[in-house]
Amino acid sequence: MALDALDLDRLKRAIALASKSAFAVEPNPPVGCVLDREGARVGEGWHVAWGGPHAEVQALASAGDAARGATAYVSLEPCSRRGKTGPCTEALIAAGVRRVVYASSDPTEAGAGAARLAAAGVAVEGPGLPGEGDELLRRWLAASARPRPWTVLKWAMSADGRIGPALGEGGTITGLGARAFAHGARAHVDAVAVGVRTVASDDPLLTSRLAGALPDGRSQPLRVVFDSAMRTLLDRRLVATAREVPVLLLAAREDAERRRDLERGGVEVAVHPGTGGRVDLARALADLHQRGIRRLLVEGGGILHGSFVRAGLADQAMVFVAPLVLGGRGAPSAVEDSGIQRLADAARLEEVRWRRLGEDLLLQGYFPPRPDPSEEGLSVSARSGARS
Ligand SMILES: NC(=O)c1ccc[n+]([C@@H]2O[C@H](COP(=O)([O-])OP(=O)(O)OC[C@H]3O[C@@H](n4cnc5c(N)ncnc54)[C@H](OP(=O)(O)O)[C@@H]3O)[C@@H](O)[C@H]2O)c1
Repeated sequence: MALDALDLDRLKRAIALASKSAFAVEPNPPVGCVLDREGARVGEGWHVAWGGPHAEVQALASAGDAARGATAYVSLEPCSRRGKTGPCTEALIAAGVRRVVYASSDPTEAGAGAARLAAAGVAVEGPGLPGEGDELLRRWLAASARPRPWTVLKWAMSADGRIGPALGEGGTITGLGARAFAHGARAHVDAVAVGVRTVASDDPLLTSRLAGALPDGRSQPLRVVFDSAMRTLLDRRLVATAREVPVLLLAAREDAERRRDLERGGVEVAVHPGTGGRVDLARALADLHQRGIRRLLVEGGGILHGSFVRAGLADQAMVFVAPLVLGGRGAPSAVEDSGIQRLADAARLEEVRWRRLGEDLLLQGYFPPRPDPSEEGLSVSARSGARS
């Protein structure tokens, strides 16, 4: 395959666009797309959010009629399977794209994306820059081999690292900008989880509510409570709304009476016994994966976060830092009992990005990868990682 300088330039631009997907689409791969017609860039797009349109569809939308007869440069071989959105191969064919050049092959497609385009008469060339986008695709390839959701730990904390006051009443630490971002984040996951102590103290709804946060056609995420002994009170707002937005309670031991009460309220209950009388996180995540949960937002509190960090099951951190000091010896912190004792053992976040949201700061980063027992023995063909 002979790609010229313009082709390579456009492929590099597509890879640069793909990097904008970081922290928003995992465990889907970050993908970027450029549409070119006779040397002019007529459209661009990237996969902006989990559950939203893929890069090719975004680029086609931005090009409009100019897409007809254009060349599409994509950082990754277009997908041919239906996930949460339609296959990108069909969108490219329907738009009348004449030629598709992609930088890297998709091992989960096994050539199906390229073959579908070629069968429809589109000229296909790729992989045009193998290796160049590997760093971007590394996390997707690792995540797609695990039968568990991509797990984002999210918390809001004061400047002194507290996620609540010593007298644990609910309330919000951050301003409107950060809260809007957090509601948007809920709209782009399959499930939101909390520990039972957070349900007791804050009585959260865990829905995506701020105006415009939930795109048309998207349903609310599944709401999940880690509650070892089924202590969740029936008067909690989560239970009261369980018939409208599903709630799954993950317990560590059976209690027939409590289960009956919760199920009467519309709450689904599953039991996964683990060490220390708590829910076994690996089993709980495997259960969620089987239910189709691919992206999970864990919204605290610190005890639950600590368990995820200790077990090496946290993939990403989303941390809001507010300019207030809470102090107090009894004020909860964001990650309790993580098993980290020394500075040398700290979980140093990778590819960190900071962003300002009003008076608050948002810090995002990836937890350093750790060997994941659920990956063992899985071949590429057995990957769950077909894109959604
Ligand atoms: N600012 C924020 O972003 C934010 C977010 C959420 C919460 N908060 C604050 O955090 C505080 C509550 O957090 P918390 O740390 O005390 O409790 P938590 O993390 O909300 O709940 C912990 C409880 O979850 C249950 N659980 C079941 N399986 C578990 C497992 N594998 N690992 C860990 N826990 C498991 C345990 O119940 P059992 O003890 O029955 O086993 C455990 O005590 C409140 O003050 C709340 O306001 C702040």
